[in-house]
Amino acid sequence: MNVTIVGTGYVGLGTGVMLAYLGHQVIGLDTDPTKIESLKRGEIPIYEPGLDQLLAEAQANLHWTTDYAHAIPNADVIFICVGTPPQSDGRPNLSYLEGAARSIAQNLNGKTQVIVNKSTVPIGSGDWVSRIIEEHAVDYHANRYFVVSNPEFLREGTALGDSLYPDRIVLGGIAAGLVRMRQLYAPLIHQSFKAPDYVPRPKEYTVPAVVETTLTSAEMIKYAANAFLALKISYANEIAGLCERVGANIDEVTAGIGFDQRIGHRFLAAGAGWGGSCFGKDTSALITTGGDYGYEMPILSAAIEVNQRQRSTVIDKLQKHLRLLKGKRVAVLGMAFKPNTDDLRDAPAHDFIARLNLLGATVVAHDPVAMERARKEWAHLRYQEAATAQDAINGADAVIIATEWTEYRRLNWNSKVRSMRNALVIDARNVISEPLDVPAVIEQIGKELPERTAADAVA
Ligand code: UDX
Repeated sequence: MNVTIVGTGYVGLGTGVMLAYLGHQVIGLDTDPTKIESLKRGEIPIYEPGLDQLLAEAQANLHWTTDYAHAIPNADVIFICVGTPPQSDGRPNLSYLEGAARSIAQNLNGKTQVIVNKSTVPIGSGDWVSRIIEEHAVDYHANRYFVVSNPEFLREGTALGDSLYPDRIVLGGIAAGLVRMRQLYAPLIHQSFKAPDYVPRPKEYTVPAVVETTLTSAEMIKYAANAFLALKISYANEIAGLCERVGANIDEVTAGIGFDQRIGHRFLAAGAGWGGSCFGKDTSALITTGGDYGYEMPILSAAIEVNQRQRSTVIDKLQKHLRLLKGKRVAVLGMAFKPNTDDLRDAPAHDFIARLNLLGATVVAHDPVAMERARKEWAHLRYQEAATAQDAINGADAVIIATEWTEYRRLNWNSKVRSMRNALVIDARNVISEPLDVPAVIEQIGKELPERTAADAVA
């Protein structure tokens, strides 16, 4: 099939490369010429494990352009993958979506074409895009253009595995549009499908469920899924706080409840709370939509509140031990919102550094991949960059582990704390698994490491 992807951001690139790998002819369109030029040279503007390899494998099926007149007329399926960044009132900015829908409409050619909303767009956007197509398509035929909602569930860092081995494919719209979408994904919906070896296949993987719904239900599924995951994490964090107070261990508790298959083990890791571009935005959007209809969503509001409190808790733990932070040297390990990405959006580390700036601490930060990006995006924060985790830790009064990079898990913390001025680690991701042999205070979330000589460690 001929596929056009409008918007070569995170979702667009991942989707385009995946579909090209499945054998479709894919044109990636972006209005930013610099992006398109670099993609033509084979350079990927984002960090996503394996994406460069998959792109190289699918190269022959991939083409890049800035020109709607070239990309739209021959496309059987057109994916809209443009950004919907949050505005100051929390509502998404839909101007890119509107612009894309208009430009698509003006270039449709009268043969049957399916227009797919892949970006996470507010509930009702599918109908809105249909109206834009109706208004702007030259020679409009109602039974030739179908708008479908096909939400994306991929996670950054595991995007290839999530899109090539999905749990489910959600398709919302009317039957004529859905038939073509099933054909598009047919290679994936097959027992024998095998992605390249560098894409990890989930254990006990079977073919994905194909969930066919109305347009509006598909849009709702995306929000409801993300908000549920966000509240699952907030729930674990809320229980973790109580575990700390009564002396229980959150890991034992979540392991114990997770064996109940109605609950499950996943997405119950307590820590610094959730971040990233989706959970906060989507949960807020759902609350806002509720508000538009005079409907309150107290569970979702609480999930956000707990997440914010979780970030404060991390600095509170630091203050509990250090008291005044003015002049103290604090190492922040990990800046990305989670490991295996350089994405800094809504990262807990941002709020930690901002609060440490306010409190007058000297901040030294390290991240294995996100430091370059932070130089541009976090220019408003004050911190020194450390070339290595060791450089950040040297002479520090405290370390905050903000992101659970494997590199930090593997550090020999016995030797690391010896190089600190004061052996205090706020392990906000529970990466340290063994008590240390040397005197140190290790604060974790929802549990305590078994004591060795910690009691008198901090002078
Ligand atoms: C999420 C959804 O998982 C994905 O389906 C959707 O398409 C986009 O939003 P992503 O934002 O890439 O994906 O990250 P994810 O791996 O889900 O993690 C989100 C946040 O939750 C991270 O900050 C992570 O550190 C945190 N998290 C996750 C926890 O704190 N505990 C957990 O148990 C799991």
